[in-house]
Amino acid sequence: MKIENGSLVLAEVPDPVPGPGEVVVDVAATAVNRADIGQRLGFYPPPPGEPEYPGLECAGTVVAAGAGVPDDRLGERVCALLGGGGYAERVAVPVGQLLPVPAGLSLPEAASLPEAACTVWSNVVDIAGLRAGETLLVHGGASGIGTFAVQLGKALGATVVATARSAKHDRVRELGADLVVDYTTDDFAAAVRDHTGGRGADVVLDIVGADHLARNLASLAPHGRIMTIGFHGGTRTELDFMALFRARGSITATGLRLRSRPDKARIVRGVAGQVWPLIEAGAIRPVIDRVLPLADAAEAHRVMEAGEHVGKIVLTRWK
Ligand SMILES: NC(=O)c1ccc[n+]([C@@H]2O[C@H](COP(=O)([O-])OP(=O)(O)OC[C@H]3O[C@@H](n4cnc5c(N)ncnc54)[C@H](OP(=O)(O)O)[C@@H]3O)[C@@H](O)[C@H]2O)c1
Repeated sequence: MKIENGSLVLAEVPDPVPGPGEVVVDVAATAVNRADIGQRLGFYPPPPGEPEYPGLECAGTVVAAGAGVPDDRLGERVCALLGGGGYAERVAVPVGQLLPVPAGLSLPEAASLPEAACTVWSNVVDIAGLRAGETLLVHGGASGIGTFAVQLGKALGATVVATARSAKHDRVRELGADLVVDYTTDDFAAAVRDHTGGRGADVVLDIVGADHLARNLASLAPHGRIMTIGFHGGTRTELDFMALFRARGSITATGLRLRSRPDKARIVRGVAGQVWPLIEAGAIRPVIDRVLPLADAAEAHRVMEAGEHVGKIVLTRWK
């Protein structure tokens, strides 16, 4: 699936050839991420060396192995974190970015997991070090990322407060959120403080950026960690250092796609070790809004841009 003048266009393209340490996956399903829309619109190009087509995750079967990859990987059913190229029949992937299909899940379900699992684990667990008994504030609790973060927070024993527009609150509560706040009408900082007896959130997973900074700071518990991964509310604003100082807080911003391949492989190992067992135990389940054929990727983007979905939109090879 190519991008031409801001549109997604089906096209015949050459099959990828696996480089050293890579395999080629025959893609059964991929899933849509917000970044795909940015890429389609021309302001989020793939990093150098990554496939030019959109698609940051997939599931399928290994059909070719590059130098240094044992042949016994051929035929393996996998899902994968990609630097791009998931909206295709075949994609080359470094072996370090492969994950097994969790027991009991279909390929479309597995395709919905790698980007959310790796983004949420790397921010909330690896960097912010969320601990049982702490409070996690998840912005965009109904998003692909948010639905995963709510479940991971609960599985790790945290109290979870999420924000979402009110029409999506029931769905976010069903995932285990202890409190859901309508970010369009209510002050989430006051709600978090009320819910925690005045203490606040230990970890904030933020997708809004500038427009949320002051209220994220007002939400923070002592030694609170703000993890910013998106900028729906802009990239520039003023920082009140005194508010950060009072909380002894920290602000970190990360982008998974921009990380090096070795760092992605390290994150994938962490996810395989800590998150996959939670999925296989049923403590975290895929949240799939709808499954569409890959040929309808433009409709999937429309749904996401309109905010009509909860969780992930999956694209399959099948009609
Ligand atoms: N840095 C990274 O490594 C990384 C990786 C993956 C994703 N992300 C980011 O994570 C976010 C979610 O990604 P996704 O693929 O899961 O997208 P998605 O499913 O389309 O979710 C977007 C979410 O943004 C919420 N939202 C939009 N504008 C908002 C605003 N002004 N205030 C509060 N919430 C707002 C929407 O909430 P409602 O539907 O409730 O209105 C929706 O849940 C995106 O910002 C994406 O860029 C970052």
